[in-house]
Amino acid sequence: MVKAKTTAPPRPRNTEPIYAHIVGWGVGLPERTMTNDDLTAFVDTSDEWIKARTGIHERRIANSKETTATLGLKAAQAALNIADILPTDIDLIICATSSPEYIFPSTASVIQAWLGASNAGAFDLSAACSGFVYAVDMAAQSIRSGSITTAVVIGSETFSRVIDWTDRGTAILFGDGAGAVVLSASSIEGGVLSSVLRSDGSGAEMLGIPTVGSIDIADIPTIGVNEGHKMGKMHMNGGEVFKFAIRVIGESITQALDLAGLTVADLKLIVPHQANLRIIQAAARALKVDESLFMCNLDRFGNTSAASIPIALCEAVALGRVVPGDNIAFVGFGGGLTWASMIVQWSDPQSEDRSRLLTRQRREISYRVAWWRARLIRISRQIDDLVRRIRPQRGRMERLRRNMDRSDF
Ligand code: COA
Repeated sequence: MVKAKTTAPPRPRNTEPIYAHIVGWGVGLPERTMTNDDLTAFVDTSDEWIKARTGIHERRIANSKETTATLGLKAAQAALNIADILPTDIDLIICATSSPEYIFPSTASVIQAWLGASNAGAFDLSAACSGFVYAVDMAAQSIRSGSITTAVVIGSETFSRVIDWTDRGTAILFGDGAGAVVLSASSIEGGVLSSVLRSDGSGAEMLGIPTVGSIDIADIPTIGVNEGHKMGKMHMNGGEVFKFAIRVIGESITQALDLAGLTVADLKLIVPHQANLRIIQAAARALKVDESLFMCNLDRFGNTSAASIPIALCEAVALGRVVPGDNIAFVGFGGGLTWASMIVQWSDPQSEDRSRLLTRQRREISYRVAWWRARLIRISRQIDDLVRRIRPQRGRMERLRRNMDRSDF
């Protein structure tokens, strides 16, 4: 049985192998649901067309208070509850996102402060819809190398803020949300077994969000303003992305299976990036497996980019479609172009029921302390700043008074 560790284990470098197990998971979803019919109020489309061409019925859309960081925080907290560990136990936080709050600070850093994960490093990872698989691989490699013990990997997006709502080719596809997992070191075999990360930047113009960067959108002939693309808004060549996705899903899952010494017959479930039902159906045909081997919940959430795999994974676990000992596959694909597959042997979960009350209370307290700490630090910086601005004036006044005292007036 794999248990999340709350203290650093001995690091048996070069003696026995370390495995990286997924020991916690959770989602952070916006409250508001937007149905296809709701969309038709401002997009030239129909419920029938969207369902038939994509399989999507509705998606979640963030309200003005929900952001990539708040949704990511919610998902991370839920994952910490399942893993039953404290924020101070976390060594590393990676947030896979293509809709961060800022270029920097990273969304992961914002979440780190809110969690009170005072011993963690934090960074964002940009690999579009493959980002979650890339990030889990980075975390698992860090754990297996012995350099860290516990990592939180988050996929979080608010694509509603970067969608061009006048482009019906993209506006119908995407939704907002977050999912997270906790990875923990263990000497017990299992967890992340293999992964395959790939990129083909020659397809960069097929899918992207031109935004703040070192290049002017007008200078890029293929995605320039003349093509009708807008700064800060997503553009996509849907047909080409469709063909690319079908090609790479089967190919990369097979490669990851080979690396793990398994075949597709050993898989209990494939959790794919939730882009389009027709893509998943075509991938199932390519792999010569039944469509039911694929977890699919895009009908209710649409394409949530880096968040879609962890959101689907959490639902699969809740439905009992994954149990300890099962071999499962993740497969992501998207902008870059990037794609990635991973084989995971599912671990014995620490269920929420078994969550120790004391740890749970300490977690709640630590979130509150983190919130007050961040506030107090901010206020003390403001006071410092104010004092610094007043001090020279006081100095000037004193010099003036001394000069006046010395004078003959
Ligand atoms: N509503 C209604 N009609 C639409 C429409 C919409 N939202 N979008 C396109 N159409 C129309 C087109 O104008 C076209 O009409 P025409 O035949 O009269 O010219 C027709 O539907 C077919 O358009 P097409 O673009 O060929 O549709 P498609 O079957 O390729 O579906 C996508 C479009 C975007 C759904 C599909 O290409 C796709 O899902 N691609 C992959 C996108 C993806 O998953 N991206 C994320 C990867 S991470």
